[in-house]
Amino acid sequence: MNDTVKEEKNCRQYIGVDLGTSAVKLILMNASGTIVKSVSKEYPLSFPKPGWSEQNPEDWKAAVFEGIKELIEGTGSARIAGISFGGQMHGLVALDENDEVIRPAILWNDGRSVKETEYLNNVIGKDVLSKETANIAFAGFTAPKILWMKENEPENFARIRKICLPKDYIAYCLSGVFSTDYSDASGMLLLDVKNKKWSEKMCEICGIDVSALPALYESYEVTGVVKSEIAKELGLPEGVKVIAGAGDNAAAAVGTGVVGDGGCNLSLGTSGTVFITSTEFSVDENNALHSFDHADGNYHLMGCVLSAASCNKWWMEEILKTDDFAAEQKGIEKLGENHVFFLPYLMGERSPHNNPNARGTFIGLTMDSTREDMTQAVLEGVAFGLRDSVEVARTLGIKLEKTRICGGGAASPLWRKMIANIMNMEVERITCSEGPGLGAAMLAAVGCGEYASVKEAAEKIVKVLDTEKPDPQLVSLYEEKYRQFKAIYPACKPVYDLISC
Ligand code: XUL
Repeated sequence: MNDTVKEEKNCRQYIGVDLGTSAVKLILMNASGTIVKSVSKEYPLSFPKPGWSEQNPEDWKAAVFEGIKELIEGTGSARIAGISFGGQMHGLVALDENDEVIRPAILWNDGRSVKETEYLNNVIGKDVLSKETANIAFAGFTAPKILWMKENEPENFARIRKICLPKDYIAYCLSGVFSTDYSDASGMLLLDVKNKKWSEKMCEICGIDVSALPALYESYEVTGVVKSEIAKELGLPEGVKVIAGAGDNAAAAVGTGVVGDGGCNLSLGTSGTVFITSTEFSVDENNALHSFDHADGNYHLMGCVLSAASCNKWWMEEILKTDDFAAEQKGIEKLGENHVFFLPYLMGERSPHNNPNARGTFIGLTMDSTREDMTQAVLEGVAFGLRDSVEVARTLGIKLEKTRICGGGAASPLWRKMIANIMNMEVERITCSEGPGLGAAMLAAVGCGEYASVKEAAEKIVKVLDTEKPDPQLVSLYEEKYRQFKAIYPACKPVYDLISC
């Protein structure tokens, strides 16, 4: 046995938990960054009313606990040293005095808090919000949801003793330590992002006590250990460290090596995000991009489209009734020439429109439009939607010539090509496709002292697999198409308001 193999056999291992919207994905990683095994467990997602989106935290817990057992089965769990998380952001998890979940979690893509968002932005005022938190209100953020609960479910609201984010609920179940990290806390609209502390004023505005909020940590800090009885139940060794973890986008950026200054990561998951790193705190003057803390201890700007790969999934599975996504993309050849457009606002839109009433829209259909044209329009529509955020960043003087990419949609070569040409950016894919899960495991490794910093872990672990380069001819065709795409939303906006229910 050579030394490297021996070292791998004896090395410590780390669990990364990616608590997503459709499923939890867990990975077991060796100290060097090799993935030993991965497991995925789905849970239900409910849309009780148009624009509402909920999940039961107990379902997350059951899936994570089952997932951990399955993950470590037959792998010799004794070497597991730490566990950490990348979690769907913004979700409101409210616990009562017995730590029971009060109501289903209201998720990041839930648009019910239109009135509360307007109240925060227009009555409290965007300037106050921006001063207190570095951000304005979006319906998906946590604070408007707290206000919605206060207004619409006063009995439930009165029972609140703790408020946390999805991944923090799981960490609490594992360790008994009530904690969160700065990157995820940034999306609550309760955190002073620049100074990394809770905003007393925002708590007051939402009618909650700051003591209901979790303790704050850097993403790579140890918050506690897995409780003895839970370790026994799951088959983990004693003393496995729990590391704070990050919001899924920050964790994904760590997993694609986008840390430090001037990096960009695009995530094509249920949501789509443009994530731009910075070592300096900054705010987009119009607050179209979120200004959040990053998991490496620095900052980032982020734009988020609420429906990205989920648009394609919806189009394939619900409408075309197929699960062979690649076959549907095979016949798409004429890039930059499609007359059909799709606005990907199936759950309303966050960046840059901030409009929960926006809706998915096909436009430009003619008698010769084909199934392929419509599939192409769906993929292009998501890319155009993401370009809106890239453009905001460019107006801030940020140079974006290259990006990394992750998420389920990144597996499609066609979609990567469209993105490279629609954005006019080089698109780099990473050898490991587990963005947030890998990032979470890397944070666990840093927390346990395996690497001196998140940056060092990223440099040693993350490797580029391939690069899609923009083609000047396609870039120019798509430039014209993007100009047309941009004209559609303002024209449709009054109709969205008219038909909103
Ligand atoms: C980011 C956002 C989504 C979720 C998806 O602001 O809302 O990307 O984190 O899980």
